[in-house]
Amino acid sequence: MDTNEVKEIVDRWMIPTAKGAYMAGLESRPVISHACGIEVYDTQGRRYLDFGSGQMAAALGHNHPLYVQAVKRNLETISHSTKTFLNVDRLTLHRRLGEILTPPLQKSLFLVSGSDAVEAAVDMARKVTGGTDVLGMNMGLHGSTSFITRSLSFGWNRSKHGLAAQATFSMMAPYAYRCPFADCACVTGSGDFLCMKTSFDLAVSNFTGKPAAFIMEPILSAGGIIVPPPGYVKALRELCSQYGMLFIMDESQTGLGKTGQMWGHQHEGVVPDIITVSKHFGAGLPVSAVCTSAEIADRAAANGYFATRSHACDPITCAAGVASIDIIEQDGLVERAAAIDAQLRERLSAMARQIEMIGDIRGRGVLYGVELVTSRKTREPANDAAKAVVQACQEQGLIVQARGSHGRMNVIRLVPPMVSTDAEIQEGMDILEKVLKQVAQSGVMNKAAA
Ligand SMILES: Cc1ncc(COP(=O)(O)O)c(C=O)c1O
Repeated sequence: MDTNEVKEIVDRWMIPTAKGAYMAGLESRPVISHACGIEVYDTQGRRYLDFGSGQMAAALGHNHPLYVQAVKRNLETISHSTKTFLNVDRLTLHRRLGEILTPPLQKSLFLVSGSDAVEAAVDMARKVTGGTDVLGMNMGLHGSTSFITRSLSFGWNRSKHGLAAQATFSMMAPYAYRCPFADCACVTGSGDFLCMKTSFDLAVSNFTGKPAAFIMEPILSAGGIIVPPPGYVKALRELCSQYGMLFIMDESQTGLGKTGQMWGHQHEGVVPDIITVSKHFGAGLPVSAVCTSAEIADRAAANGYFATRSHACDPITCAAGVASIDIIEQDGLVERAAAIDAQLRERLSAMARQIEMIGDIRGRGVLYGVELVTSRKTREPANDAAKAVVQACQEQGLIVQARGSHGRMNVIRLVPPMVSTDAEIQEGMDILEKVLKQVAQSGVMNKAAA
């Protein structure tokens, strides 16, 4: 496809995305044709290292042989099936997922997207508690469905949607690098989490009914890779329990090995009441899950709970889910993510010693953020520089994204697939280092600082 043909299709046949949204200007970006492992190719034959893991869902690499085998088998036997009958792949996936889930959250229900799973988790909490009010983080992202998930995505264009779902409230994320309370434990490492206490109290005073749930990502990814400080999640979980709220962790981006543990919540020594799973759960196909304990599941069902979609329990997506768990176990990907974590941290720390523009480095496993600032002293977000870094990386064969929230889009998010070799990680980091140095010395940085 040449540039004219692409432009013609976009102009004539595609519904445009709002200006300013990160998907605007799609037609000027490379057109992807195929991928293999951690490499993606465009229609011009150019190769890219995919340090975005696709849309965060190719953490097992593209087209892993076990996944291809499972999907091919199901294409020839059965892809879709009625939900009024059980099917073998669905049953197998319930068991395989249950085996790797944190006890007692071993009961699961399948849906299609991450947004579906969050909707269903919130609904479950409401059915169980009889409450309505749901509290999230002001830098969180939980999906794009118009009923509840985009209203809970306080860090992502909520104001653009006009009406928000009722009974959705936010509190401050534990953004230690920019915490407004100098004495907060997220800054000093001891004492009270003042940002938590203050914003939680404020949110509670806005509640309009009985509380039902609190929801957060174990690492707030799209908001700018916000990693909660030690002890934060535990303290917050206790606070939520005092108000009778079920604790939901959205493991869409952190589950299934990406943080160097099977589940993101394992780093916190906390067992949530409900978790949601999606992204690379289907190794490339869309399948998601809501997981909880038998006790919560039974209470929800007794109160009329159900959640489903036409393609929720398709044999082909469930087979992909089973393949994904097999791949994670057989290839030792949880351990591999932990090893990549060490490599990323070492390389990024070395870069931070040389490049002033790097204000902060945060992350776990294969999920990392590099926050760019115009000055380490003022910490002013370097949005233009981040944009330039993404563009220059792309031109040099590395796909990364800039993320952030509330007017900041200055965190370079790195998500190399867990199957990346040491050489591939080093190659990606070499490109990033070169680009960061070029941008730091360029007019872009001066303009941003002016
Ligand atoms: C943490 C989190 N939850 C939920 C979602 C929504 O997933 P989906 O786009 O599959 O609906 C996303 C999407 O990026 C996400 O990052």
